[in-house]
Amino acid sequence: MLVSTVLLLLALSTSDVFGNKLNVAYQWKTVEFEFPSYESKLAAISSKKFIQDNHLPLGLEVYGKRLFVTLPRWKYGTAASLAYIDMNEAPKDSPKLKPYPNWTAHALYGGVPEIISPFRIRADQCGRLWVLDTGIEGLLETEEKVGDEKWFKNTSLLVYDLTNDALLRTYEIPAEQKTEDSFFANIAVEDEDCHNSYAYLADLGGPGLVVYSWKNNKSWKVTHNFFHINPLAGDMNVAGIPFQWTDGVFGLALRPEKDGYSTLFFHPMTGFDEFSVSTRVLRDESLATNSSKYYEFKHLGSRGPKSQSGAAFVDKKTGVLFYALVNLNAVACWRTTNPKYTMESQGRIYMDNETMIFPNDVKVDNEGNLWVLSDRLPIFMYSALDKNDYNFRIMTAKVPDAIKGTACAAKFSPDPEIMNKITNKLGGGDKIKSRTSGSASAFTFNVIVLTAGLILSLTR
Ligand SMILES: *[C@@H]1O[C@H](CO)[C@@H](O)[C@H](O)[C@H]1NC(C)=O
Ligand SMILES: *[C@@H]1O[C@H](CO)[C@@H](O)[C@H](O)[C@H]1NC(C)=O
Ligand SMILES: *[C@@H]1O[C@H](CO)[C@@H](O)[C@H](O)[C@H]1NC(C)=O
Ligand SMILES: *[C@@H]1O[C@H](CO)[C@@H](O)[C@H](O)[C@H]1NC(C)=O
Ligand SMILES: *[C@@H]1O[C@H](CO)[C@@H](O)[C@H](O)[C@H]1NC(C)=O
Repeated sequence: MLVSTVLLLLALSTSDVFGNKLNVAYQWKTVEFEFPSYESKLAAISSKKFIQDNHLPLGLEVYGKRLFVTLPRWKYGTAASLAYIDMNEAPKDSPKLKPYPNWTAHALYGGVPEIISPFRIRADQCGRLWVLDTGIEGLLETEEKVGDEKWFKNTSLLVYDLTNDALLRTYEIPAEQKTEDSFFANIAVEDEDCHNSYAYLADLGGPGLVVYSWKNNKSWKVTHNFFHINPLAGDMNVAGIPFQWTDGVFGLALRPEKDGYSTLFFHPMTGFDEFSVSTRVLRDESLATNSSKYYEFKHLGSRGPKSQSGAAFVDKKTGVLFYALVNLNAVACWRTTNPKYTMESQGRIYMDNETMIFPNDVKVDNEGNLWVLSDRLPIFMYSALDKNDYNFRIMTAKVPDAIKGTACAAKFSPDPEIMNKITNKLGGGDKIKSRTSGSASAFTFNVIVLTAGLILSLTR
């Protein structure tokens, strides 16, 4: 039991054995915007429409040469809650953010603008940007501003045309599909057919899943026990800050299937387990809302203790699921064609208690690049960020490089150098010869790595 509780951590933490596989693409100590002029920036500061320290990038998306981030209005003074950089010209260090689609869409004080406070967004392969706008400001503010409401809008789905940035559609989630505790923080879009697309909106508080049909401009709510929290998974500790969360269904990732539907992989944030369901069930309103659907939902397995996970994304090309391990400062992967979902079948992409404090979003772009945003959210929420330190990072790697040598690679072939490092650490003698492996040697390798991890971490 003791051994199994530390296995995932150890499997992921053999950092001197596996190199970290992501590189910093962009980083910020504090957020900077490209204001129309220096005067307008000063005016925004003095009127408190722009309070620099209150910004925290959270959601991430990449489309063409534009890299988008959301900046939810946790606190007052967010200048724009959805912005982008042009990767052709942005420097690595503190690139200035441009509001999306423009400043007018974010002019909150003195009116209700187009966009209030989205957490996550999705650019589909049809050139549309789906923005799930919570509609709320000041979740972390203790005192309400006089005369201002926190809810500026009801949670809505906004869809933009990325070719000209025009707003194509606004859809407010109907009241009967929400509860008092509803909070929509994540979205997945099934875009194999641009006309008949579906958006899946995760309500972590409901908990529930709202399915939106683009063709019919209509949504319905799906409930299931698997969307609920595991009450034993609420305790977190990030960067020395202990806290407890109760977030239901959160991570959503779609893998297209030959039958024209997709498999939706999902998990609650407050949980250790992974689940799946076919969108054949979700897209059929009468089936999705009928209790007879219960057994269509599958439990895949558990990642083990401390494995609370936030955002997730499936790379369509390799079928690898990438996901954030928010309580372990890590990004990991699982090959969705692997029949087993266990601690040992997870691969480690990156783990670092400095640069990966709170991985908050994970995406793969159309060119096969993995992107991860880390932002120290618990420090922002419960303590204070150090302005002299890099707090927000966007990291990247080509997918094949990211999964190389992990349990997520197509053909698992242990790197002889890594193997020798392990045997040397263990005081072993003989050099291990390189060999391409079948599942048996992959298994042996896993056992060696796990054992080595245990010993290494105990003797460090
Ligand atoms: C939100 O929805 C409720 C129920 O449909 C409605 O009464 C309320 O006016 C809406 N709020 C806003 C800000 O649109
Ligand atoms: C800002 O973008 C909106 C579309 O969302 C558009 O209607 C509006 O004209 C734009 N404003 C300016 C000043 O470009
Ligand atoms: C979609 O539905 C919403 C609410 O039912 C409505 O306000 C909106 O105009 C509709 N959009 C289109 C394009 O039909
Ligand atoms: C990060 O890990 C290093 C080495 O294990 C340790 O010395 C340091 O205190 C850790 N920092 C935090 C913030 O946990
Ligand atoms: C739910 O599904 C069952 C089994 O398919 C069916 O008999 C029943 O009529 C459905 N109920 C509703 C309300 O559609």
